[in-house]
Amino acid sequence: MSAFYVTTPIYYVNDRPHIGTAYSTIAADVLARYHRMRGEPTRFLTGVDEHGIKLERRAKELGQTPQAYVDSMVPPFQEAWQQLGCEYDDFIRTTEPRHKARAQALWRMCKARGDIYQDDYQGLYCVGCEAYYTEKDLLEGNVCPIHKKPVELLNERTYFFRLSAYQDKLLAFYEAHPQFVQPEGRYNEVKSFVSEGLRDLSLSRSTFSWGVQVPDDPGHVIYVWFDALVNYISALGAPKQPGEGEAPFDTFWPPHAKAVHIVGKDILRFHAVYWPAFLMSAGLPAPTQVWAHGWLTVDGQKMSKSLGNFIPPAPIVEAVGADVLRYYLMRDIAFGQDGDFSHQSLFARYHGELGNGLGNLLNRILASIVRKTLDGRVPVVERSELLPIDRALLDAAQASAANAARQLEDVHPNRALEAIWELVTAANKYVDQTEPWKLVKQNDTQRLSQVVYTSLEALRYLGLMLWPFMPVKASELLHQLGLDALSPAAGVDLWPSDRSQLPGGIETRPGTPLFPRFEKEQEAALIARLAPKPPEPAAASVEPLGADKAAAPAKPGVARDLSEKPATNIDMFGQLDLRVGEVKLAERVPKSDKLLRLEVDLGPLGTRQILAGIGKHYAPEALVGKRIAVLANLPPRKMMGLQSQGMVLAAGDGDVLSVLSPSTAVPLGSTIA
Ligand code: MSP
Repeated sequence: MSAFYVTTPIYYVNDRPHIGTAYSTIAADVLARYHRMRGEPTRFLTGVDEHGIKLERRAKELGQTPQAYVDSMVPPFQEAWQQLGCEYDDFIRTTEPRHKARAQALWRMCKARGDIYQDDYQGLYCVGCEAYYTEKDLLEGNVCPIHKKPVELLNERTYFFRLSAYQDKLLAFYEAHPQFVQPEGRYNEVKSFVSEGLRDLSLSRSTFSWGVQVPDDPGHVIYVWFDALVNYISALGAPKQPGEGEAPFDTFWPPHAKAVHIVGKDILRFHAVYWPAFLMSAGLPAPTQVWAHGWLTVDGQKMSKSLGNFIPPAPIVEAVGADVLRYYLMRDIAFGQDGDFSHQSLFARYHGELGNGLGNLLNRILASIVRKTLDGRVPVVERSELLPIDRALLDAAQASAANAARQLEDVHPNRALEAIWELVTAANKYVDQTEPWKLVKQNDTQRLSQVVYTSLEALRYLGLMLWPFMPVKASELLHQLGLDALSPAAGVDLWPSDRSQLPGGIETRPGTPLFPRFEKEQEAALIARLAPKPPEPAAASVEPLGADKAAAPAKPGVARDLSEKPATNIDMFGQLDLRVGEVKLAERVPKSDKLLRLEVDLGPLGTRQILAGIGKHYAPEALVGKRIAVLANLPPRKMMGLQSQGMVLAAGDGDVLSVLSPSTAVPLGSTIA
């Protein structure tokens, strides 16, 4: 049985935990719990990234030493993960001696290989990314595409890593390990990035001192990304030396283990290109897989402090419990794709799937029937006497368990939950069809026992399969069924299958509903309390990408005509990714007279689903085949339950409205400027 090692990115401590970082950590925890319950030796690592110029500057602004500042910022992360039920095995801080020593050791290994040399460097540096950029990768005006802030021109003598020497080796490695980067689209992106050529990487900084010192050169600190990436192995200790006992490195790093890094799509390049190159240089194996998930938006908008829609997990946990947030995030967002967070859809899933689907199933059988008519015990039945309809549900339970396991092995938590919910649906349908309440009235105890047993067995499957996602609720469910608390142990596979069965005769413990309903007013009040608060006008900044928002307020004291938008500039215009696309499909969105659902081919950008509020002015068929102008870099946004991945540009309002269209057939994906 191979060991399993899962990691989250180490989070910069200048931010507080939010639902974006919670998302990675919960996903890693779900995987760790799943592998633990399969009996595999499992290790889950998270931690914090504490070095770099950004943190040094922030500490200075606050009049603190960098160490005091980072020390004060670590507990919120540990508390948040604990509150969310994320049970990591280790928490690494890059300021720890064990980490620094290992980062320096890795540096020495790469240097001994001849891959580190000194040279002058002049480059455009984004402090937010802690990375140099080439001009072609920046937005107009040398603005960082991620942080939307101008980069700085830095000039220094630095150490370099001979990344260019690893192009072919990396490409060969990707070919040999097609699962190394997931999802597949990202694997192709990484391959094409590397095929375009790699430049040597500046690997040290001399312009600030808050970092791990370069071995034998006190004037330099190690580049923060080299420092940060090493965390994944520094937390495992050095490989075993002759005469020493086994170190975690020897158990949890390939080739002995499956090592999976969960990362956000924005930091994929560092993990999928730099990290394996550093490891190859040091003569160490690469991790097994880098899994890049998408980004969360909030009510369709990018999370940002200036928009005031930065969502910390704690208030949600206080309102609905950690398990509900865990379930919602893992269920609502396809792992690997961007997704939108909204309190409304969290409550919809709470009431729909959790309350009406799962909670009700338990309640219908346990509280209403077992307690009242079967003496509170799991009935004893002869499995061979079950009817085909019973066996069909047990087969569905096995199929659901096999499918959910496969999805979790492949790191698709949302698909695993879909597979699990197929069983919730099947079990509810089974109860509707077998009508146990009628059997109670008819005093048909034998058939009633079979139906109840079969339903409870399905619930046992559900309790076990849901444990990685909702450890508290799943434990409660298993407890109500009369089962012992789950305690994973190495070598013991606790995933449900027909190898184990619900024992007949045990006493159940019906309790309070798992997912009690919120009254309408209560839910509305909670949503209002949890809703992101818009920033005070004085603190508002113009968010150029929020083209679907009202114009930003003017600075206090500056009079302006409210019918006009504030002045902009060419840099801001350059941030809009305006493209020409062709409408391939257009149809009305059910229950809306305004919205049309379009599929628009944007050439190299692929085909996007876009919802446009033009249904009163256009018949869908009139749009098919038309070339139109699209704003392509808006964060995805949900409307009427559908995701919109862009905006169609149209002129006019009220009675007259016209979709903008180029007068000649320019190629699809052409930029509009
Ligand atoms: N310190 C580096 C990682 C070093 S790993 C060797 C870093 N830290 S970060 O705090 O800025 O970001 C950490 C992770 O949070 C990234 O994977 C990033 O994608 C993720 N997220 C930050 N905001 C997010 C969303 N809104 N949605 C989803 N994930 C997001 O980068």
